Amino acid sequence: MSLLEMRKGTIHFGGLVAVSEATFAIEKGDLFGLIGPNGAGKTTCFNMITGVYRPTSGSVYFKGKQITGTPPNRVAALGIARTFQNIRLFPALSVLENVVVGGFLRHRTGLASALIYLPSAIAETDRLRAEAMDLIRILDLEDVADVRSADLPYGKQRRLEIARAMATQPELLLLDEPAAGMNPQESEDLLRTVRRLRDDFGKTILLIEHDMRFVMNLCEKIFVLDHGEEIAFGPPEKIRNDPGVIQAYLGEAV
Ligand SMILES: Nc1ncnc2c1ncn2[C@@H]1O[C@H](COP(=O)(O)OP(=O)(O)OP(=O)(O)O)[C@@H](O)[C@H]1O
Ligand SMILES: [Mg+2]
Repeated sequence: MSLLEMRKGTIHFGGLVAVSEATFAIEKGDLFGLIGPNGAGKTTCFNMITGVYRPTSGSVYFKGKQITGTPPNRVAALGIARTFQNIRLFPALSVLENVVVGGFLRHRTGLASALIYLPSAIAETDRLRAEAMDLIRILDLEDVADVRSADLPYGKQRRLEIARAMATQPELLLLDEPAAGMNPQESEDLLRTVRRLRDDFGKTILLIEHDMRFVMNLCEKIFVLDHGEEIAFGPPEKIRNDPGVIQAYLGEAV
């Protein structure tokens, strides 16, 4: 059984077909890339999987169970975590506090109550704190653990989002352009970290990325969308040389 299956996932926004009959299966342990030019429908696929949008038609299965249209908080509780293309952190909270909030979500506490009880909970809950510190070390954020997230450089904010998503202890981690805005060294470091999340921590990774070097060096399977339609699927060596993919990317700065 696949960990996640999208079967003919389709979304219409008014007259626009943002994603048309997308069909793919992600197996446990996959490093799976979702690529395509701007506006291809990549983030919309994440939104269908995580319940932000209900597909107009088609379905999503997680561990063989249909989760189509399940609300985002319940999808998270089932074991799917995500990061956002436009970083969403709690700007006034420290790195450590942001990750602890992620840990609360695992216990199905609502986000609002997690925030209200945060001060006392941080004082009391040594375990969550220790777990958060472990993740902070894995994501190389130890030196900034007490810094407000708003004061972090961009690349570290992206790493923090991953740490926070990991704190929910997901089986499947969805990363929306994790290397965006990073310099080559930062993106190389991130690549190693993401691979480690799979190799050492058993996570299954689905990631959207425009940085072709990052995708080709990291992902083992790549699904390519263009104007909401699948145009290619396969290992990096196949995708790299696919005329349809090259054509779709012509005129795009990648
Ligand atoms: N809520 C919405 N309402 C209307 N149109 C939308 C909505 N969300 C996305 N779209 C449209 O759907 C299409 C796909 O958008 P999506 O954000 O999924 O693209 P993407 O592949 O993630 O692109 P990018 O690489 O630029 O992030 C675009 O034409 C976009 O304008
Ligand atoms: Mg997007």
